Amino acid sequence: MIYLKTTEEIEYMRESNLLVSKTLAEIGKHIRPGISTGELDKIAEAFILDHDAVPGFKGYQGYPATLCTSVNSQVVHGIPSNEIILKEGDIVSVDCGVVKNGYYGDTAFTFAVGEIAPEVKALMRTTREALWKGIEKAVDGQRVGDIGHAVQQYAEDHGYTVVRELVGHGLGKRMHEEPEVPNYGRRGTGVKLKKGMVICIEPMINMGKRQINQGADGWTISTADQKPSAHYELAIAIDKGEADVLSTFDYIDEIIKN
Ligand code: MF3
Ligand code: CO
Ligand code: CO
Repeated sequence: MIYLKTTEEIEYMRESNLLVSKTLAEIGKHIRPGISTGELDKIAEAFILDHDAVPGFKGYQGYPATLCTSVNSQVVHGIPSNEIILKEGDIVSVDCGVVKNGYYGDTAFTFAVGEIAPEVKALMRTTREALWKGIEKAVDGQRVGDIGHAVQQYAEDHGYTVVRELVGHGLGKRMHEEPEVPNYGRRGTGVKLKKGMVICIEPMINMGKRQINQGADGWTISTADQKPSAHYELAIAIDKGEADVLSTFDYIDEIIKN
């Protein structure tokens, strides 16, 4: 069942999602060659607890950490570790969730570690733009398939592929609510969007083929061909006219511009 949120609930969800946005910016300050993903996880956990919230992922279906940190060919759900040291030229997709006042925030961003190859930069830019193509369609009266179609079209027009096994989702008192929000699809199909729905749109876009594998740890998803993958996620409230975007990359952009 799809839970429509009241105006008051949406304000709570804005608070949760802004906290995740700020947590990701805090992580952005620390991303550099030589830092481990385990250290990033500790920084995120302390930051969240310091802001009267709790990590949303820790304990979710047994997940052991505050962040998902997925490096290069890892698509999503990479588990942070003190043994995984970021190096110049890597990209790392950082996904973070919190619960504050009973409501989830869930947002993700792919960071560059030092200088990266131009073709990887292009993958990141297109993935982020594809997310916004989806957000443009996320309006009362449109359908979930309109979002997926817009994301897929944009990514494929740029020569990339779309991961299909993992999808966006409703967000609220639970991290994964209905409806599912695939990053591929056909216009005019699927659930009709309605004011009060809150969803996460989160394209996972691959430089090579779309196929993925699950790692031996039971969590880490990687591209089958080992080529890079990027992931950006924002939470939005459906409204009439245009989406009310509850999380933001603005704090991150402030940090990474220098
Ligand atoms: N945040 C992910 C998503 O965007 C889900 C993470 S599952 C977890 O839907 F177990 F790693 F927390
Ligand atoms: Co997420
Ligand atoms: Co999500």
